[in-house]
Amino acid sequence: MKKIILLGPPGAGKGTQADLICEALSIPKISTGDMLRSAISAGTELGERVKAIMDSGGLVSDNIILELVLDRLTQQDAQNGFLFDGVPRTIGQASLFRENDISFTDVCEIQVPDEAIVERMSGRRVHPGSGRNYHVKFNPPKNTDKDDITGEPLIQRPDDLPETVLKRLEVYHDETSPLVDFYQSPELAEVNYFTVDGMQPVDEVFNSIKTSL
Ligand code: AP5
Repeated sequence: MKKIILLGPPGAGKGTQADLICEALSIPKISTGDMLRSAISAGTELGERVKAIMDSGGLVSDNIILELVLDRLTQQDAQNGFLFDGVPRTIGQASLFRENDISFTDVCEIQVPDEAIVERMSGRRVHPGSGRNYHVKFNPPKNTDKDDITGEPLIQRPDDLPETVLKRLEVYHDETSPLVDFYQSPELAEVNYFTVDGMQPVDEVFNSIKTSL
């Protein structure tokens, strides 16, 4: 049973690869980013609490994330494996997951240099209903600004403004990159940790991941 984490900076291609892996392995994608954006769209109390933090590129609190994840893992489709897209994001979250017996078989780190990230983010388009990602140049939809599956309009995310992307990169280096060492520590020797070059085309990144899983 596969329990996978996709780790990498904002814009590394985690969401893009998550959709491909989940389809190939028939496991659900658990994306706290998508869950939080849904809460904002639905105007829930949680959405109101997190909107300003997300729009500014900061991180939502570890306890909110733990609660979201624990609740999601009780659902039937997560009983035979799952993929965590961009979560955990801090050592605090990773520790809380261990304390709550959430374990992983594989951690895939997608590596992309900071310089490439801003271009990727400015060209990203998203289908809000599903979280499907496109890029105007690198991964365009079949019809401009329309989702391939539903035909619904694509949007730009509010946190994809260049200054917010720079802030998110800073947060990644400060808060999330320590997870690279965390998941390679001898205590977690059972975890298959591997890196892939996220600068390759989407299908080549996917092939590299399939080989290592
Ligand atoms: P989240 O939604 O998780 O965003 P992120 O991790 O910053 O990652 P992105 O979704 O921006 O990028 P991605 O790596 O998925 O890349 P993508 O595939 O889209 O989190 C958003 C916010 O929510 C956070 O800032 C925080 O506030 C909050 N949050 C979420 N989880 C949290 C947590 N656990 N703890 C605390 N706070 C949390 O690709 C990017 C673009 O590049 C696309 O246009 C795509 O088409 C293109 N692309 C993809 N692959 C390639 C390729 N190989 N070559 C060229 N272009 C490519």
